[in-house]
Amino acid sequence: MPGLTPENAEPLLRAEGLYKHLYQPSLAFWRARQPRTILRDIHLSIQPGERIGLAGVSGAGKTTLLNLLLALNGADAGSITCQGRPVRPASTRALRWYRRLVQYIPQDPASSLDPRMSVRELIREPLVRLSVEGHHGRRIDEALDRVGLDQKFLGYRPGALSGGQAQRVAIARAVALRPRLLLADEPLSGLDLPVRAKVMQLFNDMSRLDDTAFLIISHDLSVMPRLCERTLILHDGAIIEDRPTAALFGAPEHDHTRALVRAAHPDLAIMMPAPAANASYPVA
Ligand SMILES: Nc1ncnc2c1ncn2[C@@H]1O[C@H](COP(=O)(O)OP(=O)(O)O)[C@@H](O)[C@H]1O
Ligand SMILES: [Mg+2]
Repeated sequence: MPGLTPENAEPLLRAEGLYKHLYQPSLAFWRARQPRTILRDIHLSIQPGERIGLAGVSGAGKTTLLNLLLALNGADAGSITCQGRPVRPASTRALRWYRRLVQYIPQDPASSLDPRMSVRELIREPLVRLSVEGHHGRRIDEALDRVGLDQKFLGYRPGALSGGQAQRVAIARAVALRPRLLLADEPLSGLDLPVRAKVMQLFNDMSRLDDTAFLIISHDLSVMPRLCERTLILHDGAIIEDRPTAALFGAPEHDHTRALVRAAHPDLAIMMPAPAANASYPVA
């Protein structure tokens, strides 16, 4: 039966039991350095086309987890697999297969785009770096079309782009590789409301039309209901909730989640009981 082959049963990305410790130098030199656990026992699986939100207050460990998933850093324990193949930090060449499948959308596109390059060069660069075969021109046009940017922008440099246009170029760079999964760190912060709505629409279209999966990181829970079917809450380095977004908003299980939902949705707060006295409040 189609859809039930072993290949399909294996998630696109799977993380199992990830730990990350940080070895901070102690101020007291005679004491042993005490490792701090930044991520603990992270389990995560992403299916093709799924849109997953990863939320948590600043300092929760979101970026640290992202860097592990991008194989930029190694975990101290646990494993990451993509379509069943192990993923760990390695040379550009050894990770080429992974970089083509899993791409990153940066938090601050304006500063991540080389100001000397034209939009055409910016979108072509990952295709060249990852030795993608075939007609690059066609892929560039297709990516530009996908993010809703006019052809005239191909000759522009980042300095001539608005924040929203720069974000689209950053997305087009990833999209040109036809990735199966996009990891986005706060992709909407810093964008005006109308541009936010368009980027959300783009993500939704991509997952629906191309079966592209998304992991969207945000300290702001309010974007999750419109963007993500499933939401994970990272708190103090651990995933404390992993549920369909509607269920999570409808009945948060943890006091910490309740506090996050209240902050994102003041209207919902009147429908929910007050959090317990020991609940930690979000500070974004
Ligand atoms: N290079 C580093 N040096 C010191 N502390 C770090 C470093 N990277 C992360 N941390 C600490 O790890 C925790 C998680 O950070 P981070 O992953 O950036 O959280 P988030 O992205 O959720 O805001 C924080 O307490 C942060 O201070
Ligand atoms: Mg961060």
